[in-house]
Amino acid sequence: MIEQLEQLQADAAARIAAAADLDGLHAVEIDVLGKRSTLTDLRKQLGGLDPDERRTLGQRLNDAKAQLEAAVVARRADLEATARTAQLAAERLDLTERLDPAPARGHLHLVTQTRDRLEDVFVGLGFTVAEGPEVEDDWYNFEALNIPPSHPARGMWDTLYVDAGEPQSVLLRTHTSPVQIRVMQDVAPPIYAVMPGRVYRRDTADASHMPVFHQIEGLVVDRGITFADLAGTLEAFTSAYFGSAIHSRLRPSYFPFTEPSAEYDINCVFCEGSGCRTCAQTGWLELGGCGMVHPNVFAAVGIDPEEWSGFAFGFGIDRLALMRHGVDDLRELFTNDVRFLRQF
Ligand code: DAH
Repeated sequence: MIEQLEQLQADAAARIAAAADLDGLHAVEIDVLGKRSTLTDLRKQLGGLDPDERRTLGQRLNDAKAQLEAAVVARRADLEATARTAQLAAERLDLTERLDPAPARGHLHLVTQTRDRLEDVFVGLGFTVAEGPEVEDDWYNFEALNIPPSHPARGMWDTLYVDAGEPQSVLLRTHTSPVQIRVMQDVAPPIYAVMPGRVYRRDTADASHMPVFHQIEGLVVDRGITFADLAGTLEAFTSAYFGSAIHSRLRPSYFPFTEPSAEYDINCVFCEGSGCRTCAQTGWLELGGCGMVHPNVFAAVGIDPEEWSGFAFGFGIDRLALMRHGVDDLRELFTNDVRFLRQF
């Protein structure tokens, strides 16, 4: 019987050690230590032995049982640890995970980028940046700029009126020039300011017109400012913005709020002056208007034209953005098709 017990203990220990998981171990435990186990059978047979043998064998049976129970406890602890490790691995959240491809980040609209660059260049030349409202009244948009109600020059701007106040008294600003008036009302000269923003005109959308577009206005008021300062400032801006190969020129023109007035052109940025399709073979691109601030404009804001003089300019931002990237349809800037916008 001792031999049988030893064999039994060795087999049971091997099975316990070989149990692959907790369920398997539980089955082995019932098999080798449970009520129907060979171990229990052997114990039942103790009653038929003489007292000496019974004591020795009983002792051996108890030892074997205790050892096997300890083996089961140890194996269970092992398997539980393994199971916990496996579960942790399965439930692990990888916080370093990146979606691939990385989610696309947006960026500033082409017009905003262009406006920011223009501001940067003028700030570098010592200018400040000012803004004004898009809904203006007739006085700021026209009268204070030396364009009285019956002035024929009003025809230069097809105005969108707002249904408020007296008929045709409130409007969407047709240019950024009214911000000149607001700046001169707010701050005493000397003034060196640029004023970018959205403007509106009653235009039908086509490749080169939109009822809403963007301008940047410039205003300098100081003692002893001359037309040479205007020409020099625009030339300095031109080379700072477009590079040293591009120069500016001024052509006589007419604007009610400046006298004299000029048209501001730059060398064509595509052919650098030799003539191409974009500049209609002229070698020049029209950027905007400029001139010396009219005494009537100074009078409207109470600046003494005997003490102060100044120049102003204004040009379109959208066209500049299009030219820079060789885009031929202004409407692309407003349809907001990301396939177009993400190129810039
Ligand atoms: N406001 C003019 C326009 O929208 C552009 C302009 C011309 C602005 C001459 C000026 C200027 O400041 O001096 O057509």
